[in-house]
Amino acid sequence: MREPWRLVLTRELQEEAAKHPEIRLVFVDATQDSDKQIKDIERLLGYGIDLLIVSPCDAKRLTPTISEVYQNIPVIVLDRVVEGYDYTLFIGPDNESIGKQAGKAIVSMAVGRTFSVLELRGGAGSQASAARSRGLEGVFVRHPNIRTQVVVVENESRDAAEDIVASLGDRLEDVDVIFAHNDYMALGAYRAIQGGANASKKIIGVDGFAGQDGGLELIRKGVIDETITCPTGGREAIQFSLDILQNVSGVPKQVILRSHNITRDNLESYERSLDKAPHELTDVIRVGYAQVGTESGWRLAANSSIREAAMDFNVDLTVIDANQSPARQIEAVRTFISQKMDVIVISPIIDSGWEPVLREAKRAGIPVLLSDRKINTEADDLFLTYIGGDFIEEGRRAMRWVQANVPPDKHPVRILEIQGTIGASPTIERKAGFEAVLAENGSYGIVHSSSGDYTIEGGRQVVESYLRANAWDIDVIFAHNDDMALGAIEALESAGIKPGEDVKIVSVDGTKRAVKAIIDGKLNCVVECAPFLGPQLMKAVTDLMMGKELPLRIITDERVFTRENAEEVLPGRSY
Ligand code: AHR
Repeated sequence: MREPWRLVLTRELQEEAAKHPEIRLVFVDATQDSDKQIKDIERLLGYGIDLLIVSPCDAKRLTPTISEVYQNIPVIVLDRVVEGYDYTLFIGPDNESIGKQAGKAIVSMAVGRTFSVLELRGGAGSQASAARSRGLEGVFVRHPNIRTQVVVVENESRDAAEDIVASLGDRLEDVDVIFAHNDYMALGAYRAIQGGANASKKIIGVDGFAGQDGGLELIRKGVIDETITCPTGGREAIQFSLDILQNVSGVPKQVILRSHNITRDNLESYERSLDKAPHELTDVIRVGYAQVGTESGWRLAANSSIREAAMDFNVDLTVIDANQSPARQIEAVRTFISQKMDVIVISPIIDSGWEPVLREAKRAGIPVLLSDRKINTEADDLFLTYIGGDFIEEGRRAMRWVQANVPPDKHPVRILEIQGTIGASPTIERKAGFEAVLAENGSYGIVHSSSGDYTIEGGRQVVESYLRANAWDIDVIFAHNDDMALGAIEALESAGIKPGEDVKIVSVDGTKRAVKAIIDGKLNCVVECAPFLGPQLMKAVTDLMMGKELPLRIITDERVFTRENAEEVLPGRSY
């Protein structure tokens, strides 16, 4: 409870809980001490709590405790994400994005001239501060005209920042802008330079709270020039607690909250948006959905989930199937623009080439949501949210299974990778996650990698063409989806190689056929990528049309299937 940000978080939790007489909020403060936090959690469990909300002091240290609690009751983790997926829901800001947003603001101030930034970072152990710096540096690498000096303010307070900035003396002279990782340090910096020769320097902070000495007030008074809002997620934590305890379906795994750049120019409109209550819907919402195609069992399940949810939410849905053609998919979006849809949803076949058509949608005032796949763009105003899986984590999980179950024998483990559609975000990110874990250990290597385009036929062809050119020397196949793994299995069997035994196979999705193949001993591990995005998507569409702000990303829950749990989960696999 040392930082003002935590006071706002606590207030939000209490105010939201107070609206629900069925909730009793019991609150404890770890005073920055992980040992105390672990004891606090034990004490809360002793009180018989139904659900735990925790902001871990130290995410790594708290991981085992949180994972144990999660075996018995739901756990919502706030703001610092623990390792692994042993919690019910994570809600937090995207600190790297916050750093990026600050970086872009500074770039627009610098407009091509040599520019010097003083960065006031938080304490060395702060995950949030490290991520913000990463985001900032990610922008500055492309702008060699911008130089940064970094100063760490260990306790992140206003007074410490004031003392440090005041002590910089001559080093301040050529500084153009001070970027402080919170508004209170930004205020401290202002106090250090006000009235002196350095008073004209620009100051940017982070948090953007209302109230006395909050970032919004500081902008109004001209103390700071800009703030990047950093939402606490307190209100959402209480709302999701109710959904979780009432077993509402479609609760996501992670909700990443949106941050805004606030300056004098948009301060008033931002404040008005905070006060605005959501309005009732009077008309049926018209949604145009630009879909990938029908390449896989996963896609068919995703299609049904979207259509069913549209009916449940009374949304008038038009789907155009691009049949795996990026050009056709862009045309589909143009059709939706000409039809003046209320909302356009895209599952982008590939992640590039989107900016022109998304700018057309923006000019037409039609909001765009991304479902299941992402796009690669520096512009952060071309779509409102992404709803789907965490593909990097899927890749990591696949390789973690390989590491744990296929030990290097006499020679390094030889892996054949069957990639999905080249240029699609799940392909890029699954590969990146897999390779990140692979890089931790020199005893594993990808010896061959080619695309099977997410189809059964594609998976079969990759194995057949490898067999035509090589004697079989592969220990593990990593297929980016189940359909390609099933195609690979057929090719292996035709060649007299026993899938699952002679070669271990790991894939992604979790279709019924793949789980059945695990039981039959032909597939070894399937990392789930849940296709049931319909309810979350239609809820987001409805919330948007009611005037609510959407999170930056909504990430779905996903599990891992192996021989240990395949029998048990098979009856529940509906696709
Ligand atoms: O975008 C999700 C991927 O697309 C699924 O993993 C794959 O099966 C599908 O075609």
